[in-house]
Amino acid sequence: MSAITYIGPQVFKPQTGVIGITCIKSCKYSNETKHLNISALKRGTGGRSSFNGFVATVFGATGFTGRYVVNRLGKIGTQMILPYRGDTMDLIRLKVSGDLGQIYFHPYNLRDEASIKQAVKYSNVVINLVGRDWETKNFKFNDVHVDGARRLAKISKECGVERFIHVSSLNASDSPHGHVLSNGSEFLKSKFAGELAVMEEFPEATIFRPSDIYGQEDRFLRYFIHEWRRLIQFMPVWKKGEATIKQPCYVADFAAGIVAAMKDPDTKGKIYQSVGPKRYQLSELLDWFFRVLRRGDTYTRYPMEYDPFFTLKVYLTNRVSPSYPLANLHWERIERECVTDVVQKDLPTLEDLGVTLTHMEDQIPYELKPWTLGLYHGVDADEPMPRPHPPKVAV
Ligand SMILES: NC(=O)c1ccc[n+]([C@@H]2O[C@H](COP(=O)([O-])OP(=O)(O)OC[C@H]3O[C@@H](n4cnc5c(N)ncnc54)[C@H](OP(=O)(O)O)[C@@H]3O)[C@@H](O)[C@H]2O)c1
Repeated sequence: MSAITYIGPQVFKPQTGVIGITCIKSCKYSNETKHLNISALKRGTGGRSSFNGFVATVFGATGFTGRYVVNRLGKIGTQMILPYRGDTMDLIRLKVSGDLGQIYFHPYNLRDEASIKQAVKYSNVVINLVGRDWETKNFKFNDVHVDGARRLAKISKECGVERFIHVSSLNASDSPHGHVLSNGSEFLKSKFAGELAVMEEFPEATIFRPSDIYGQEDRFLRYFIHEWRRLIQFMPVWKKGEATIKQPCYVADFAAGIVAAMKDPDTKGKIYQSVGPKRYQLSELLDWFFRVLRRGDTYTRYPMEYDPFFTLKVYLTNRVSPSYPLANLHWERIERECVTDVVQKDLPTLEDLGVTLTHMEDQIPYELKPWTLGLYHGVDADEPMPRPHPPKVAV
């Protein structure tokens, strides 16, 4: 029909282009991405070089779990926008997680709505991995976990984003029980308030509550085995670690859970607990880590609450480097290490997303290998050491 309209007057009038433009305008062609069904543009067989129909903005991609999530998304042909702060060189290695042209970096500020809007307006999925274990001069827990999360959820909703995946924390609560901090962990309080803020702005958001996550460059194994966490071979732990139960989760399982949730629309509005397959006493885990490191003979655990020197050490560490605590040693971290992991029976876990969970017994020897005592001094080559016995499983 438009062709007829175009050809008709052309016969009688010199070409000005006006009629052509009118025809194009009337054809309902628009460059507004909002109404574009991105998932209808799927191409290829679903691998790295295809497009799976998801354009995902991953906030917090520069962090520990971000690397794994981006890598998983890239492998299945997701196009990604990775907002970042600071230097582009810090995240340049993420570029190769996806095929050519699949990963874009975008500078942003968590307080700047315009930059957030730019980062989410072309996406149909937003993943929020932004978080901090300690407060800094510029950002308190509430700024990052509550106000920041609310802002991301609100702008995503306004921009027509279909899925919002938010990462909170296991044991998040409005009134956590205190151990070394009398009022309990501020981190856990702010994570709980953050969940409520996200649900207010984006009721169909999917929330993940991970326990301690371990893997390469983590802040669980590396924290406990760091020299600064102990005093030579003496390891101070709250109640010797015998009153705390942990259920750590492997980072690749966590990332697999996020990707599975993204692909499954039935996960909208649900909370998933990201925990490992078994529960252990913290004392059992620590003893086992040091056995794997071949330091089990000399290492000794003792109750931290009776050691004033450890208190002084933590205090001085935080005075000397408040913005980036040496060895991640700060009171918030110590408080969280004392909290027993509570898995709620009525909430789904990673297994409900079809993730096959990794057992710590299979993964930890590999993760701790670089720190093993005497690793490159012929012991392995000549007479391989037997694997130390694994930790007892708690109920
Ligand atoms: N790892 C765990 O064991 C664990 C356990 C429970 C819950 N979680 C939660 O899971 C999420 C991901 O954990 P993760 O281990 O990957 O965290 P991470 O390594 O600390 O990374 C956090 C990310 O958040 C960004 N970020 C922090 N503060 C920011 C701010 N003020 N403005 C903009 N960006 C900011 C960081 O950017 P920069 O790189 O620029 O600093 C980084 O990309 C977090 O929400 C964390 O709280 C983690």
